[in-house]
Amino acid sequence: MTVIPAGRVDLLVELADDAERLYNRHLEAPRLWFPHEQIDWGSGEDFKDKPWEATDYELSDGVRSAIYTNLLTEDNLPYYTETIMGMAPRDHPLNAWTRQWTMEENRHSMVMRDWVHISRCINPVTLEEGRVVQMSSGVVPRFDNIGDMIAYVSMQERATQIAHRNTATKLPKDDKQGRNVLALIAGDETKHYMFYRDLTKAAFELDPSTLMEAVNRQVEHFAMPGVGIPNFTKHAVRIAREGIYGVQQFLKDVVEPVMEFWDIEHIEGLNAEAEKARVALFEMIEKLKVAVERTAQKAAASAARA
Ligand SMILES: [Fe+2]
Ligand SMILES: [Fe+2]
Repeated sequence: MTVIPAGRVDLLVELADDAERLYNRHLEAPRLWFPHEQIDWGSGEDFKDKPWEATDYELSDGVRSAIYTNLLTEDNLPYYTETIMGMAPRDHPLNAWTRQWTMEENRHSMVMRDWVHISRCINPVTLEEGRVVQMSSGVVPRFDNIGDMIAYVSMQERATQIAHRNTATKLPKDDKQGRNVLALIAGDETKHYMFYRDLTKAAFELDPSTLMEAVNRQVEHFAMPGVGIPNFTKHAVRIAREGIYGVQQFLKDVVEPVMEFWDIEHIEGLNAEAEKARVALFEMIEKLKVAVERTAQKAAASAARA
């Protein structure tokens, strides 16, 4: 039996029409592509004859870390399915959407792994060992209510889109296959982001106070969905240094666009707790701006010294 957190049933029930509308919108603009058609199969070499070496595909550690964590994140998404489907009764449109979403996410890990193996861009043994650890532990965020869940997944989908897009720009120019694969995935992530972003907007209209508190909590505690991957912190630092995804991208490409779209500044009808949450949210964003500025100054100073 599905257990729905107390006090949140109404919002979940009232969001059903919006979830259905946004799910149908998603289906009306299908992005149909097949993983097998994206891969140049003839360019591959047998790992039994030629074991992987770093020189097979020259890349910085930061880009290798991004490919590794982005792919393991895609692998792990079925556990998110479990979390999301546990939030709503089986016949709720959110669950129909979630099955579609899971199907698409699974396609991402398939095509990415095909490209990784054909191109030899990262070590296949390290990748598989990481997958074993990641998927055996099944680490995913848990949410007390639907507001927190959709606020988090909105930002997670956007962050994932940015991470894939920026990784693609760091690949060698002649790896058209890799650039194409990551662009296709990033395009799907955009559509996923739009579903959750718009559902969150609808939820703000139904229950602004619950959503304001939820967004404040989720911005404060946001972590990329790679937590649980072996050596995640080391990889996250490398990915940030490479300029693929870090606090700057979190602020500029994730937080600021969603704050603007949800029109956080002008939301009306908040109770006292939610007003406090909005103040805390803007204070947090100011701190993020200071941190980004400080990082940029440090980078400029070290570039000048070099
Ligand atoms: Fe994905
Ligand atoms: Fe996605």
